Amino acid sequence: MARDNMILTGFMGAGKSTVGRKMAQMTGKSFLDTDLLIEEMMGMKISEIFEKLGEAKFREAEKNIIKKLYDHNNTVFATGGGMPLDPENREALKKAGHVIFLDVPEDILAERLEGCKDRPLLAGYDLKERIRELLSIRRPLYTEGAHVTVEVGPDDPQSVVMKIFRALEKAGKY
Ligand code: S3P
Repeated sequence: MARDNMILTGFMGAGKSTVGRKMAQMTGKSFLDTDLLIEEMMGMKISEIFEKLGEAKFREAEKNIIKKLYDHNNTVFATGGGMPLDPENREALKKAGHVIFLDVPEDILAERLEGCKDRPLLAGYDLKERIRELLSIRRPLYTEGAHVTVEVGPDDPQSVVMKIFRALEKAGKY
């Protein structure tokens, strides 16, 4: 089991990629973003996959990509915000490494996602309402699917990484 992988989960705009890159830089681990792996595999941008093939195909691709996580060691992964919604995915992620849920308040997410054009699940909705609606469904699943939950405020990426290590240590995971 690739126990030295770090897998960041959480809502769109939670900072998974930014924090993940910082964590990789600070620890000397590699960094991979599952959305980018899917784009490479499908030869299309995420928004194009949703538009041309539909969300179900994207979720299928997401499920396939999780299997690839087992090929890696010593890697930090940023995951797409919907990856832990599926129970099999939650289980697979937990086996592939330490899963860390970055729990960011709605108002900060809304600030960060304002004007964002490349998230098909947000397009055409009232942003704050949509975040609230999706988060009410997702938060318990993110929590259930993670080894640790880290509450993130307006912290800089390095502080978030430090919080993650403290949380993992406290949970006896590191
Ligand atoms: C999604 C989040 C996106 C991307 C896709 C679906 C989701 O990734 O995977 O648009 O369901 O929350 P980010 O969390 O990196 O924005």
